[in-house]
Amino acid sequence: MTGRLDCFVTGTDTGVGKTWVSAGLMHGLSATGLRVAGMKPVASGCRKSRRGPRNDDAEILRSLASIPVDYALVNPVPLPEPIAPHIAAARAGVVIDMDAIRAAFRQLQARADAVVVEGIGGWRVPLSEARSTADLVRELGLPAVLVVGLRLGCINHALLSVESIAASAVTLAGWVANHLLPDYSEGAETVNYLSERIAAPLIGVVPYLEQRDPERIATALSVELLSAR
Ligand SMILES: Nc1ncnc2c1ncn2[C@@H]1O[C@H](COP(=O)(O)OP(=O)(O)OP(=O)(O)O)[C@@H](O)[C@H]1O
Ligand SMILES: [Mg+2]
Repeated sequence: MTGRLDCFVTGTDTGVGKTWVSAGLMHGLSATGLRVAGMKPVASGCRKSRRGPRNDDAEILRSLASIPVDYALVNPVPLPEPIAPHIAAARAGVVIDMDAIRAAFRQLQARADAVVVEGIGGWRVPLSEARSTADLVRELGLPAVLVVGLRLGCINHALLSVESIAASAVTLAGWVANHLLPDYSEGAETVNYLSERIAAPLIGVVPYLEQRDPERIATALSVELLSAR
């Protein structure tokens, strides 16, 4: 693979498997010999620790990096409450600092061949009165990977997300269908329907798994498609 393989992992909603898929992408990219780092730039729902605020997603992504990285680079904007980020920021009396995010991202890019950046919620999540996730991704110059959490309603959410990503002038590098439920029996029809309507490649279909296993998730993902854009 040649060139950078950074990507921004967004989803059809919150809780659709962005962290699991990011973990799988990080594992798959590391397995090709690349130096890989992960990032959750804005994380709401951080607990206090002696070393400062900590968020579960950010800690998972940090633990999967193939290079040592400080927590503050992985998660430059930690917000305490597990709510919409612009509201969490307002309640914490802070403004989400885009410059800090950009600076942390550039530092990770300087050290790693691929940076996998997990978004917060879905594509149009506001980060402030004026800026949204879409603005952040465009400013970082990242292609998006859309995780579609397979459940009732996901076709609508997937098609809306694809349209919105295009309207944001961000490249969709690919999409991932994620079986986040044990008993969703319309998965194959859903994946077929979306495959015919989403021009970007299907990077993989992740099965329902009892436990998060980055290696197992990676086997379901064709990470080389990230370089095909
Ligand atoms: N392939 C899967 N198999 C089984 N369970 C899954 C799978 N993918 C996701 N889940 C379940 O869905 C939950 C949400 O997944 P995950 O935390 O990756 O979502 P997310 O999109 O990152 O959420 P957030 O918006 O909070 O960051 C997980 O706790 C897990 O229980
Ligand atoms: Mg997550």
